[in-house]
Amino acid sequence: MSNIDGKVVAITGASSGLGEATARLLAERGARVFLGARRKENLDEVAESIRSDGGEVDVHTVDVTRKDQVEDFVSAAVGRFGRVDVLVNNAGLMPLAPLDATKVDEWEQMVDVNIKGVLYGIAATLPRMREQGSGHVITLSSVAGHVVFPNSAVYSGTKYAVRAISEGLRQEAGENIRTTIISPGAVQSELTQTISHEETAESVAHLYASAIDSGAVARAIAYAIDEPGEVDINEIVLRPTAQAL
Ligand SMILES: NC(=O)c1ccc[n+]([C@@H]2O[C@H](COP(=O)([O-])OP(=O)(O)OC[C@H]3O[C@@H](n4cnc5c(N)ncnc54)[C@H](OP(=O)(O)O)[C@@H]3O)[C@@H](O)[C@H]2O)c1
Repeated sequence: MSNIDGKVVAITGASSGLGEATARLLAERGARVFLGARRKENLDEVAESIRSDGGEVDVHTVDVTRKDQVEDFVSAAVGRFGRVDVLVNNAGLMPLAPLDATKVDEWEQMVDVNIKGVLYGIAATLPRMREQGSGHVITLSSVAGHVVFPNSAVYSGTKYAVRAISEGLRQEAGENIRTTIISPGAVQSELTQTISHEETAESVAHLYASAIDSGAVARAIAYAIDEPGEVDINEIVLRPTAQAL
C-alpha cells in the first residue's frame, strides 16, 4: 500500500520544470495534486494532461511573493480536497551574476521568491497541519545551498537559508510533521532562462550540458513522501553523475 495514494499535495512552481514533473509523478501514484504558479495557461495544460491520464488535480494561480496569495492558495487546496498533507515549496528562480554587476532587483527577487515564498508557504500550512495532526513540508534547496559557486552568492544565500529554515522547522515540528530538504544539482528545466548576465549564462550552459531529467527530482520527492509516517527523510542531495562540484 503506497503512502502517496490519496494524499493531498500542494506544489508551488508547478507550471514547469521540477514542480511539473513532481505533479505528474505524484498524480500517477495516486496523490491528489493542487498546483500553483503565476502562469495559468501552463498550469491548465499540466492539469489537463494529468486528468487525461486519470489523475486528480486542480490549479490555482499564486505569486509566492504575496503572503495573501499563498494563504489563498493553501486555503483553496483545503477547500478543494479537504486537507493538505504535503506542501512542496518549489517555486524559485536563479538569476546568477557576479555581485559586481549589482543586479539588486534580481537579489530582491531571489530573496522574495526563494526565501520569503517558502516562509509564506510554511505560515499557510503549519497551523493546518497542527490541526490535522500530521503533515509534510518539502523544500527545494540546491547543491548551491551546500557550496558557493562562482557568481552564485545571492542564489546560494537563499538556498542555504531555506535549508536552515527547514532544519529549524524539523526540530520544532514534533513527532507528527515531517520536513524534507531536496538539494539537486543541474537538472533540465527553465531555471537557467532567469540568468540575465550573459557571461554567467554561457558558463552555466556548460555545466548544464550534463543536466539530468527532472524526473530524478520527482522520484526523490516521491520517495520521501512514500516512507511511513514515523520515518522522516530529512535531506536528499542528488546531482548528475558527471557533475564534479
Ligand atoms: N533545475 C535545476 O538545476 C535546479 C537545481 C537545484 C534547485 N532547483 C530549484 O528547483 C526549484 C524549481 O525550479 P526549476 O528548475 O523547475 O525551474 P523552472 O522550470 O524555471 O520552474 C520555476 C517555477 O517557479 C515558479 N515561480 C517563479 N516565480 C514565482 C512566483 N513569484 N510565484 C509563484 N511561482 C513562481 C515558475 O512559475 P511561473 O513563472 O508560472 O510563476 C515555475 O513554475 C527552484 O526552487 C530551483 O531553485 C533547481
